[in-house]
Amino acid sequence: MQVRSATAADTGAIAALHRDAFGPWEGDVIADLVAKLLTDKSALPLLSLLAEEEGRVVGHALFSRVEPGAKNPGVAARILSPLGVASRHQRRGIGEALVRTGLTRLQNDRVGLIFVLGNPDYYSRFGFVAATGLGLDPPHPLPEDWRDAWMVLFMDAGLKDRISTGTVLCSRVLGQAHYWQE
Ligand SMILES: CC(C)(COP(=O)(O)OP(=O)(O)OC[C@H]1O[C@@H](n2cnc3c(N)ncnc32)[C@H](O)[C@@H]1OP(=O)(O)O)[C@@H](O)C(=O)NCCC(=O)NCCS
Repeated sequence: MQVRSATAADTGAIAALHRDAFGPWEGDVIADLVAKLLTDKSALPLLSLLAEEEGRVVGHALFSRVEPGAKNPGVAARILSPLGVASRHQRRGIGEALVRTGLTRLQNDRVGLIFVLGNPDYYSRFGFVAATGLGLDPPHPLPEDWRDAWMVLFMDAGLKDRISTGTVLCSRVLGQAHYWQE
C-alpha cells in the first residue's frame, strides 16, 4: 500500500471510494462534499492524499484550510474531512497511514493546529483532544452527542498555552451549516 498526493485525474476514483466507504446516502453526501471542496478556493491550501494498492484507490484523506479564531492570526490550521477507507480494506491500518502521512506533511508546512469532527476513540491515538473544552468552538453549534467528536491536535505542544479561544471558521463549502448537523 502506498500513500501519494491526489491529482485532478483521481477525482472520479475518490468519489467512488467515499460512496463505498460511507455507504448509501452518506456516501453520496461525502462524495459531493469532496468534489465541492476540491474546487473551493477558500479551502486552499488543500492536502489530498490517496492510499493505493495494486493500482486501486483504497483510501482518501482531505485536509483543508480553516481560520482558528480571530485572535489567533498567524496560526496556520487545517481540518481533516473526510477520511474514508474502502469497505473491504478497513481495519488494516490504511486510515492510520493516511492520517500519519498527512500529519507529517503538515508539520513540515508549519501547520500549528489540525481539527477533526470524528470518533474520539479513533482520533485520540494520533493526539487529538476535545476542542470545545479548550474554547476552540466549531463553526456551528453541534448536537449534544457530537460534543466530544470536535477535536484538535496541537502540532506544537507549546501552542496550547498560547492559543486564544474563538470560533473556528471553515472554507465556504465546509462552513455550511448542514454539514454540522446529524
Ligand atoms: C474510520 C476509518 C477511516 C478508519 O480507517 P481504517 O483503515 O479502517 O482503520 P485503521 O486500520 O487505521 O484502524 C483500525 C482501528 O480503528 C478503529 N476503528 C475503525 N473503524 C472504526 C469505526 N467506524 N469506529 C470506531 N473505531 C474504528 C478500531 O479501533 C480499529 O482497531 P481494531 O480493528 O483493532 O478494532 C474507516 O474504517 C472508514 O472509512 N470507515 C467508514 C467511513 C468513516 O466512518 N469515516 C470516518 C470519518 S470521521
